Amino acid sequence: MEIIILPTGADVARAAADAIEEQVRSGPSVLGLATGSTPLGTYQELIERHRNYGLSFTNARAFLLDEYLGLPATHPQSYHSVIRKEFTDSVDLGSDAVHGLNGVAADPAAEALRYEASIEAAGGVDIQILGIGTDGHVGFNEPMSSLASRTRIKTLTRQTRKDNARFFENPADVPDHVLTQGLGTIRQARHLLLLAVGATKAQALAAAVEGPVAAVCPASALQLHPHVTVLVDSAAASKLAHRDYYQDTFGRKPQWQGL
Ligand code: PGA
Repeated sequence: MEIIILPTGADVARAAADAIEEQVRSGPSVLGLATGSTPLGTYQELIERHRNYGLSFTNARAFLLDEYLGLPATHPQSYHSVIRKEFTDSVDLGSDAVHGLNGVAADPAAEALRYEASIEAAGGVDIQILGIGTDGHVGFNEPMSSLASRTRIKTLTRQTRKDNARFFENPADVPDHVLTQGLGTIRQARHLLLLAVGATKAQALAAAVEGPVAAVCPASALQLHPHVTVLVDSAAASKLAHRDYYQDTFGRKPQWQGL
């Protein structure tokens, strides 16, 4: 894992956008997109680069990490709708190039299998954006998720439902269940970008990157991946024991090395 501590959330967004831009400009690309508040700055950066600096996504396809069970794609809080509103409708990434899970599939287990197969048929994900939940989840892989899990149904923790209530009119409207790529699925993406911004993420982030690999902190499964870039602001980094080491290493990183 490479852990890069940057002063602010805006710096995190720029660095994440740099990595995605480099991937997209390199040729046909499969992007793994996350929803939630954390990647919004990154999406704004990419939209700005699309509008003003010729960054085109016509060679890209995208797969979402997860979806609420019970919300149709047309629901404003479905992740299909959210990603369109926050990112893909504002760049040249057509809706047929953006793939997500069907939250109202009659057979969610079959939907999960279909999704796994469609990621595989696309050649796998080149670069995957990830946020981290305050309980250590990535995607919606809540604590005790199998480190080898594939796309499936999960039940959200009370903490996650509370954290996500801000997006809904009524906290009781947050669905109990979701479909999410598993930790095994996520770990097949070729490059993982884990983003964390703000002090509320400090504890989960420290457990994920410096704690043991353990299902109780699902994001710790990323330690098993060969290419993870962790981009955090100073508030989210505040509980990392080895902050000085990460900053020293990044400060002396050769320019040519990239992320
Ligand atoms: P957030 O959520 O980006 O809205 O903080 C992250 C997550 O739950 O994975």
